[in-house]
Amino acid sequence: MSYEIWENARLATMQEGQDANYGLIDDGVLVVEGKQLAWVGPRSDMPMQYRHGAFMHDARNALVTPGLIDCHTHLVYGGHRANEFELRLNGASYEDIARAGGGIKSTVQATRMASEAELYKAALKRLTHLMKEGVTTLEIKSGYGLSLENEAKCLRVARQLALDCPIQIKNTFLGAHAVPPEFQDNADAYIDAVVTMMAPLQAQGLIDAVDAFCDRIGFTYAQTEKVFKEAQRLNLPVKLHAEQLTDSHGASLAAKYGALSCDHLEWLSEEGAAAMAKAGTVAVLLPGAFYFIRETKLPPIELLRQHKVPMAISTDSNPGSSPCTSLLLMLNMACTLMRLTPQEALAGVTRVAAQALGLIDRGALCANQRADFVLWDVQHPAELAYAFGSNPCLSTVWGGQVR
Ligand code: NIG
Ligand code: FE
Repeated sequence: MSYEIWENARLATMQEGQDANYGLIDDGVLVVEGKQLAWVGPRSDMPMQYRHGAFMHDARNALVTPGLIDCHTHLVYGGHRANEFELRLNGASYEDIARAGGGIKSTVQATRMASEAELYKAALKRLTHLMKEGVTTLEIKSGYGLSLENEAKCLRVARQLALDCPIQIKNTFLGAHAVPPEFQDNADAYIDAVVTMMAPLQAQGLIDAVDAFCDRIGFTYAQTEKVFKEAQRLNLPVKLHAEQLTDSHGASLAAKYGALSCDHLEWLSEEGAAAMAKAGTVAVLLPGAFYFIRETKLPPIELLRQHKVPMAISTDSNPGSSPCTSLLLMLNMACTLMRLTPQEALAGVTRVAAQALGLIDRGALCANQRADFVLWDVQHPAELAYAFGSNPCLSTVWGGQVR
């Protein structure tokens, strides 16, 4: 097979251990073979063998980063919740609205009413926006269907998007997101139902991982553990919406089940952070939700650094707590609101986000990784986190192809 060579590129390789300076290579070359990177490095070091018969691309001095990875989204849902935004501006809190039967439950109603085609159309718009900013891999959670039939409907939409669009999508089953009306006041019975949904969804090829919402408006520690036990039995990796509104010890529980990630984490304790570090669990920070529901307690970034828990950043794109389809904006907000460095933030949407999805074949620019990369109209990678409200993406290469 012949090679395709991208030259005149300034590379932010984001390789492990090298991102003290983003793994910057000033006059860099990427050699692509099929869907993979065959060689990455400075032009002066490139072995001549690659040049023979290669197709040449001129990156025109663009900055090139790995393709961006959005590792926590709820992209498939019906309706919107602008009305609740108004209620909150008139004094109600996110929790008040949830307890009064709004919140996740109102989106469940709209999602159940929507046809598969309607859900597809709405999610495609959001996906297109993310892709325009260089997102090449993302995760989509269910969790607004809350019955076998409606969860399957949403997960099929996510699978169809992956078939139709140049992007890879990981599906996560989030049946334990809220208690649906037919199980009102009987969360334990609903959890039993969630447990029975997993095997059939897996058999239909619809799920890659399992998530739950462990919090005072979600599920208890014991209920969450029931879900994790079944996931473990089915060999499905787990992750958790943990310590968003309270410290429910979700992080320690998730770590006990070798979770890929714990997400939100505003109320994470030192014990939780230590457990995550030991289990190799990634902390997924969601600045959009922190901002939009006007949290005042920041996730304990310094604690995560001390315990060397890798930090990823994601949009949490969803109608209630983060109606956002800009991963670049999250880079900026991770820095301004949560005080991450631009380098930590960029690692958080590339290499560490890949880790949060259990993917080892992407997230950095080096040989044998997927040829997923983005050309940016900026001089320095810090600009990606610094500017907000603009989109400097020039083009995106996904699996070796310009998309
Ligand atoms: O990630 N915390 C739970 N789930 C979502 C919000 C869902 C909603 O409000 O619709 C989150 O913030
Ligand atoms: Fe979420």
